[in-house]
Amino acid sequence: MTQPTAIVAITSSKGGVGKSTLAVNLAGALAVRGPTALMDADEIVGTARRWATRAGGIQILKEGERPTPGTRYLLLDTEGRPALDDMVTLTRSAGAVLIPTGVSGVELETTLALWKALEKAGATMDNVRVVITRVPPVGRGGEVVREELRSRGVTVANTLIRQYIAYQRAHDAGVIVRDAQDDRAATAWSDILALALEVC
Ligand SMILES: Nc1ncnc2c1ncn2[C@@H]1O[C@H](COP(=O)(O)OP(=O)(O)OP(=O)(O)O)[C@@H](O)[C@H]1O
Ligand SMILES: [Mg+2]
Repeated sequence: MTQPTAIVAITSSKGGVGKSTLAVNLAGALAVRGPTALMDADEIVGTARRWATRAGGIQILKEGERPTPGTRYLLLDTEGRPALDDMVTLTRSAGAVLIPTGVSGVELETTLALWKALEKAGATMDNVRVVITRVPPVGRGGEVVREELRSRGVTVANTLIRQYIAYQRAHDAGVIVRDAQDDRAATAWSDILALALEVC
């Protein structure tokens, strides 16, 4: 019997929070374990396609396209500002819904508001967790934000995704961060691996 495909959706109500970065790199981490597909609704698809080709083992799907049978992981990278209804549907259909957020006050308020809105709209909250990303590697800002969100009832991934130029270098070179030409590539990659373990 074939295993069902595990669906991991990455979404947020704010743009530029690092969804695509997380989607592509998580796909790269999961592809090591089994056939992985990435469905990318936004314009970065060209880049993702290049990325996937070089990272190997990742199938890139257009919206509405189905993964090939036997796909073990399917990552969904949603467009900039999905409607709340679509997000609620996502929480019912995906095994995990990740909401990346930065550590700034504005981003936290936006994320908290989204969490409350999803709860109110009847989303399957057990599947949802916030991922704190672009965390300054120095200091304890990420931990502080994680505990603050948790104290307000939000489920937050333990893994913090730190901010490293390596991600931009990887993006520019069309590779996942593991393969970026950068001193911090391995450190950045260790965050991605930890999150992949935590999520799937
Ligand atoms: N952990 C990180 N460290 C450093 N830079 C990062 C990190 N995550 C994302 N970035 C950078 O932040 C920018 C926005 O990231 P990304 O494109 O992944 O966001 P997005 O949420 O997909 O945006 P959009 O809503 O426009 O689709 C990019 O330049 C990316 O390289
Ligand atoms: Mg994007």
